[in-house]
Amino acid sequence: MKKVEDYIRSIPDFPEPGIIFRDVTSVLQDAEGLKLSIDEMVKLLDGVDFDVIAGAESRGFIFGMPIAYALGKPFVPVRKAGKLPCETVSQSYDLEYGQATIEIHKDAIKPGQKVVLVDDLIATGGTMEAAAKLVEQLGGEVVKMIFLIELAGLEGRKKLAKYDLASVVSYDGK
Ligand code: PRP
Ligand code: MG
Repeated sequence: MKKVEDYIRSIPDFPEPGIIFRDVTSVLQDAEGLKLSIDEMVKLLDGVDFDVIAGAESRGFIFGMPIAYALGKPFVPVRKAGKLPCETVSQSYDLEYGQATIEIHKDAIKPGQKVVLVDDLIATGGTMEAAAKLVEQLGGEVVKMIFLIELAGLEGRKKLAKYDLASVVSYDGK
């Protein structure tokens, strides 16, 4: 039986020398890989009591939505700045070079709701930290963060130590 890691393609020196890029397109373009990756992420939510799944644009949409569908929960998109049409709250975070801003609709999360955050990959944890702050600004509670891939060498888990975090595949390096 193939495992999720067997479907992940690793590209050395992309996008720059010394970085190994962990590619999820090779997982998604295989029907069995796609099914296995979603099934394994769904398993990470065994026994978790929650109301809503939220995913970060854009790769968090790819994985978050089918998990929400599979578990019969609503899906909330956390979008890059300027895309959402109604009232939003915003959060900026640091990238390797410069800053990014993400937003969520104010009415997307109700106070007291239990939220699961989903993304394809955790590196430094900056994206998920910003997404969690958005949920919390709206009075939601982040009960779990799940990822297909964790780059453990970048210590996102340390940055997000106050959250319950789980991943399907973990790589030691960056
Ligand atoms: C990638 C990835 C995660 C984030 C992880 O997204 O999909 O969302 O980086 O990095 P971090 O833990 O250091 O924040 P990217 O910003 O490249 O955008 P994309 O999802 O639209 O491809
Ligand atoms: Mg992303």
